[in-house]
Amino acid sequence: MIRQVLDHGKDQEGSRCVQRVVCPGSFDPVTNGHLDIISRAAGLYDEVIVAVLINVTKHSLFTVDERVEMLGQVTSRYGNVRIERFHGLLVDFCAANGITAVIKGLRAVSDFEYEMQMAQMNYRMAKVETLFMTTNPLYSFLSSSLVKEIARYGGDVSGLVPDIVLSRLRERLAEE
Ligand code: PNS
Repeated sequence: MIRQVLDHGKDQEGSRCVQRVVCPGSFDPVTNGHLDIISRAAGLYDEVIVAVLINVTKHSLFTVDERVEMLGQVTSRYGNVRIERFHGLLVDFCAANGITAVIKGLRAVSDFEYEMQMAQMNYRMAKVETLFMTTNPLYSFLSSSLVKEIARYGGDVSGLVPDIVLSRLRERLAEE
């Protein structure tokens, strides 16, 4: 049973709790940059929950089900990674799932301002901590939006997304 984490991963009786962290995002689609953060988080925590935002207003290339399916395939080698979907506030998802920390990749200074704002707001709302992990420099320029744009105009995005995502991208863009 997951007990509420009260003090450095210990519950009231001083027993160790499951250390669980969430990697939230749109993942439209998952890139090798996301995967790098997820795999490193999986090495640090007992459980990593990858939470896909159900965003009804944002136009996406892949449905939430498709994004969840692709994430499941590319993270299947990690026994402690689970894929979930959520809508509404991230802090509410955290509360419902016994999560006390969010892990985010920081690519560049340009990410910092917005991420800092969200981190501070999430802490103010619910004392949910945010941990920033610097991205692998190999992926510091990478984003799902750029991948989609480049692929849409026929550019090569191999090596930037997992192979199964590459073929799904090609299929989807061929339908447009
Ligand atoms: O991959 P993205 O689109 O950059 O991910 C952004 C995401 C999903 C992490 C962020 O928009 C989010 O947490 N949305 C949930 C709504 C919420 O909690 N908003 C208040 C943030 S302080």
